[in-house]
Amino acid sequence: MALRVSTKELILFVFAISLAWSSHGVEGETRISEEEDAEFERQLKIINKPAIKVIKTHYGDIYDCVDINKQPAFDHPLLKNHKIQMRPTSFPKGLFDKASSSSVEETSNVMPSEIGLKDRCPPGSVPIRRTRKEDLIRVKQNPSNFQPQTDSAPGHHFVSNYVNTVPYHGGAAWIAVYNPTVSKGQFSNAVMWIENGEKNTLNSIQVGWTVNHALHGDNRTRLFTYWTVDGYQKTGCFDTRCPGFVQVSTDTALGLVFENTSVIDGTQYITKVVIFQDVSTGNWWLSFTEDDVHIGYWPKSLLTGLATSASHVIWGAEVYSPSREDSPPMGSGLLPSQGANKACFFNGLQVMYDWKSSDPSPLLLRRRKIDNSDCYDADEVKEFEVLDYYFFFGGPGGSNCGN
Ligand SMILES: *[C@@H]1O[C@H](CO)[C@@H](O)[C@H](O)[C@H]1NC(C)=O
Ligand SMILES: *[C@@H]1O[C@H](CO)[C@@H](O)[C@H](O)[C@H]1NC(C)=O
Repeated sequence: MALRVSTKELILFVFAISLAWSSHGVEGETRISEEEDAEFERQLKIINKPAIKVIKTHYGDIYDCVDINKQPAFDHPLLKNHKIQMRPTSFPKGLFDKASSSSVEETSNVMPSEIGLKDRCPPGSVPIRRTRKEDLIRVKQNPSNFQPQTDSAPGHHFVSNYVNTVPYHGGAAWIAVYNPTVSKGQFSNAVMWIENGEKNTLNSIQVGWTVNHALHGDNRTRLFTYWTVDGYQKTGCFDTRCPGFVQVSTDTALGLVFENTSVIDGTQYITKVVIFQDVSTGNWWLSFTEDDVHIGYWPKSLLTGLATSASHVIWGAEVYSPSREDSPPMGSGLLPSQGANKACFFNGLQVMYDWKSSDPSPLLLRRRKIDNSDCYDADEVKEFEVLDYYFFFGGPGGSNCGN
């Protein structure tokens, strides 16, 4: 009898320890040393700026309203004397003149996904997602999840359609928003890339949705941006995790959760993304949602090749998985051959050249070579009714997707 009780107590004790361990170690994997802890504290003091007001989302994110002139961007040495631009000089003519949620074959049930802070920052301040110690720990544990990549990187798979023939000053699209199931070490994105340069001089600015547990600490579908000016070597990062992107919107911030995600055979929720170069300043603006909220911009002075114009506008998706795991689903998890209401899609593709927006000429559109079309694929761009350009993409991933 006495033995049985103590065994039970022992089990309870071990259970309590394991609970304490997993909550302490965040991922329940790695403990951090005192030195690391001190280093994280030091970094947090630099990254997070004093808040004028704090906005909490119901997903547990904290946005600090920081003085617009003291936001993280201005820690960048190239932006020391930057003169902030509060709004674009002009918005590209002709952009999305057509009805927004038009088309995509038979898809009838298409609606914009809701996104935004429920509150706004006071004038003169902007919302910046607060970095917490657990965020830094996840970076350390999953370095690959903080780096989108180029073609050759192991564990990364891409599908896309692109244009690369003349100098561009922007791109736009609607993207269907899904919530693919990914493990804690993986990510699954849908992205518009604006690029110039190659290899170590590649300039890339990106916007889209992502499910990336290491980045955000959960499996929700969120708005993300990324930039690099040296082909993912030393510069750049997601959102405002490092100095670079200048935030100007007081209520639409980077890293926010998409409130509504599409369901196969159900409502298809979409979001609009626009990146365009300002005619007079050369800064690259990020505009977003049906209402063209101008979230902010990547300053021209940060960029090299893109300072003048873009050579590529690319629409597609990227997934990543560590080598020991199967590749994660992309898009809705179904291949593009499944078509409307089942596969994820881009529509309303537009490009900007001559500082005006227009439809991408079908003759100039190219499709990326697909490495394993049983895992992931993208259709060629098709035209629907009045010059609406769209394509389906995605796939289940799995164990035979190659490197
Ligand atoms: C997301 O995470 C929650 C909580 O951990 C879990 O219940 C849910 O099934 C996950 N959803 C997806 C799509 O992975
Ligand atoms: C989108 O999601 C929000 C939050 O869950 C909900 O209140 C709203 O009704 C949804 N919108 C649509 C159009 O389904």
